[in-house]
Parts: sequence; structure tokens; C-alpha cells
Amino acid sequence: MLKIGIIGAGSIAHFHEEHITKIEDCKISAVCDIRLDAAQEMANRHGAEVYRDYQDLLKSDVDAVYICTPPHLHKEMTIAAAEAGKHIFVEKPLTLSYEDALAMKKAVDNAGVKCQVGYVVHYRPSEDTARRLFEDGQIGPLVAVWDLRMSDASFLTDAIGTYRDWLTDKNRSGGVLIECMTHEVAWLLSIGGEVESVYANISYSNPDKRITVDDNSWAMLNFKEGGVGILGTSWSNPLGVMNKGLIGVDGAMGIEGESVVVGARNSDSRQVIPGEPDEKLSKQAHFAKCIKENLPVRNPIGEAVYNLKIMLAMHESSETGQIVYID
Ligand SMILES: NC(=O)c1ccc[n+]([C@@H]2O[C@H](COP(=O)([O-])OP(=O)(O)OC[C@H]3O[C@@H](n4cnc5c(N)ncnc54)[C@H](O)[C@@H]3O)[C@@H](O)[C@H]2O)c1
Repeated sequence: MLKIGIIGAGSIAHFHEEHITKIEDCKISAVCDIRLDAAQEMANRHGAEVYRDYQDLLKSDVDAVYICTPPHLHKEMTIAAAEAGKHIFVEKPLTLSYEDALAMKKAVDNAGVKCQVGYVVHYRPSEDTARRLFEDGQIGPLVAVWDLRMSDASFLTDAIGTYRDWLTDKNRSGGVLIECMTHEVAWLLSIGGEVESVYANISYSNPDKRITVDDNSWAMLNFKEGGVGILGTSWSNPLGVMNKGLIGVDGAMGIEGESVVVGARNSDSRQVIPGEPDEKLSKQAHFAKCIKENLPVRNPIGEAVYNLKIMLAMHESSETGQIVYID
């Protein structure tokens, strides 16, 4: 029986809980939250132990932990979990600084534990199908890949004064790009590969002075192997817009809901391909399988370190007004 400990029994932890309960030979045996009532509420459903201090949970006999706390806490918790010999599923974003990310990776590597980061890049059917079709050469070499994801600002205001007010604080969440668009950065990187340079403009438009997170982030990535990535995100667009697609030398692809629409150059015909994720297991089942069978995880920590490096380069570009070259 694989014993799981949950650290941070908030919103994403409930999502993981739902999937963990469906995995054979796997159970939630410990739950930790500084809000003891939240930990207790989840623990009751599993007959699990309750902890207020995650260090105490790490002394228990859990095999793996899910770190589901706000981003600024991921570093200390990941390093402590690795040092305690626990396998780790840590939520995105990995952390907020590159130095911290490297320290986390070093601790994981030294301990030899599995560490999967909570990306969804191989689990979104249409995006992952587009990636596979692109890799199969459906539209030829990359010209451009774009991802625009914009939502309204209401949930930021809702978070103020609640236990979720970390979201509105730049020092705890990292802002719209790092906290949210890291998923979209992951998708662009899965298509374009390594990045040569970035240019970005990241701004604060929220008039509410209690909200210190940047809420608009626009960036262009130049990929080493050719083609550009365009990233646009907002936490201040009441219209709510999602638009993603790719242009290649021989055609183009658009993401439309759960499907991918493919068009060839100089042709009116369109092919609608239903999306199917490459990874058939849930993230949680995949993680459990990798632990049990000693397999490499998808979305490993090294990938998350690179993702953060690119996002921090975007911040540097925005601050200096210069193109930033990635070494
Ligand atoms: N992969 C995804 O699609 C996805 C979606 C949502 C959130 N997330 C990520 O998950 C993480 C948590 O987000 P959330 O929306 O669940 O936040 P949340 O605020 O709902 O939950 C966080 C929980 O951590 C607890 N906590 C805070 N400090 C703690 C401590 N020192 N020890 C133990 N518990 C502590 C809080 O009390 C709260 O219950 C963030 O990194 C976020 O970016 C990922």
C-alpha cells in the first residue's frame, strides 16, 4: 500500500484527493494544514492522521507527499521532504527564484527520490494532441506557436482577507506569469524546445493597491531551433479569452475546445482531430506507478527549473526593456 501525505489541504489538494482515492493500493494516510479544521475535514474521509506542522508529517511513515501549499513555501517543504526520503509531488510553480529552484533540484537528486511537478501539459487533450501532430511533422517546421489566456480579476479581490490572500501578494504567488501562465509556458516549451531569447512586458493594472501581483504579461520567445512563441496572459480581462494555435511552414493548427483543427497550406480543407492526451493515466496514478515501478516521472523537477528560468528572464526583460538571451 502506497501511503500518501497531503501538505496543504486547500483547493488543489481536494482535486488530488479525488484522483488518489481512485488508485489501487494507494491511500491518503496523513494530512497537514495550518488550518487544522481543513486538515481534519479531509483526513476524516480517509481515516488519516492530522498534523499542523509539516515537519511532524514528514516523521510519519508516508511514502510520498503532495505539496499543495502556496508557491513561496514549496522550497523549504520540498527540501525537507527529500531529506526525509519521501517521494514528492509538488505543485507548480516550483518556487519563485532560480537559486531556490536549483537548491530544490539538488536536494531531490541527492536523496534519489521521485519528484513530479504539477504541470498539466501532458494531460490537456487538445494541446497534447497538437504537440504530437507537430512532432509527427503535420505542419512542417515551426513558424509560430501562440497561447493567449485571459481571465477577469474578480477572484483576486475575492482572495483578499481569506486564507487565499497569498494569491494577491507578489512575494508569495509570483504574479500572473509565474503562478498561472507557467502552464502555458510549459506547453510552448513542449513545442518549441529550448529558448534562445525572450522579450516581455509585464505590468500591474489593478487599481486595488492591496493587490501587489502583476496581472498582465506579454512575451515573445525565440526558439533555438527556429520559430517564435507568443504568450499573452491577463488577470484583468472581463471578457475571458482563450486562444491557442501553431503555424508551420506547411500548414497550421488551432486548438478548439477538446479538438485540434488542422489546415494545410494552400488548401481549403480542414481536418478536425479529437484531442487525446499522450498520458492515459491521471497525474496522480502516473506518479504512483512511477514510484511503485521505479520509472522516471513526467514533468520532472528539471523541466520546472527550466520553465522558471525562462519566466524569470521574461521579468528581467520587462524590467530592463531589453531582449534577454538565455545561456
Ligand atoms: N496544477 C494546477 O492546475 C493548479 C491549480 C490550482 C492551484 N495550483 C497550485 O497549488 C498550490 C496551492 O494552491 P491552492 O489554490 O490549492 O491554494 P489554497 O490557498 O486553496 O490552499 C493552500 C493550503 O495550504 C495551507 N497552508 C498554508 N501554509 C501552510 C503551512 N505552512 N503548512 C501547511 N499548510 C499550509 C493553507 O491553509 C491552505 O489550506 C499553488 O502552488 C498553486 O499555484 C495548481
